[in-house]
Amino acid sequence: MYDEAFWNKRYANRDYLYGTEPNSFLAEHYSLLSSPVLSLSEGEGRNAVFLAARGFEVVGVDISGVALEKAMRLAESFGVEITTVVADLATFEPEENNYGSVIAISAHLPSRVRNRLYPLLERSLKRDGIIILEAFSEAQLSRTTGGPKDADMLMTVEKLQREFPNLEPVLLREVEREVSEGSGHTGMASVVQFIGRKT
Ligand SMILES: C[S@@+](CC[C@H](N)C(=O)[O-])C[C@H]1O[C@@H](n2cnc3c(N)ncnc32)[C@H](O)[C@@H]1O
Repeated sequence: MYDEAFWNKRYANRDYLYGTEPNSFLAEHYSLLSSPVLSLSEGEGRNAVFLAARGFEVVGVDISGVALEKAMRLAESFGVEITTVVADLATFEPEENNYGSVIAISAHLPSRVRNRLYPLLERSLKRDGIIILEAFSEAQLSRTTGGPKDADMLMTVEKLQREFPNLEPVLLREVEREVSEGSGHTGMASVVQFIGRKT
């Protein structure tokens, strides 16, 4: 259902679906990150461009070529450089011991994809590497403010604990917060926020 064609269609409009401002959880905690930063499901570039403007080297991966073209245009308009890779995270192979950080903002994936990818993410981080993740929680199913309508793709604190067993949680919580991210995410939302460190 949420495949490449779905996302390319969602992004076909000239507008930036989730706006051009960074995700607020990332903006609050980005100083913990180090380069290179792997950004999963980067979309139209708002988070990668924010980090690049602060001196980070960022590689943004997304299944949507349409989104990543917009990301490159956004980077150009800010006068910064980002690297983009069109790839399906179901088969993407992040290089081992290569990244200072990984970010995953609303990077919702089915559990069968997470179960293959997340151990590879743990391995792709260098020692002391940081992951910053925010995702809608299962409690979001009853809301209309964003996120997939599929409990398997929504997160919980327990899922994160189970799926990143080798990262030390620096912060792990479920919160309700107001989101204002373009027309794509607007209003009160239930999210899970995670910062993990590879020890
Ligand atoms: C809700 S958007 C979030 C975009 C971006 N992270 C942001 O915060 O603005 C979800 C993104 O996941 C991407 N995506 C969905 N399934 C994917 C997959 N299997 N592999 C790579 N990207 C995927 C979509 O193309 C879309 O850009």
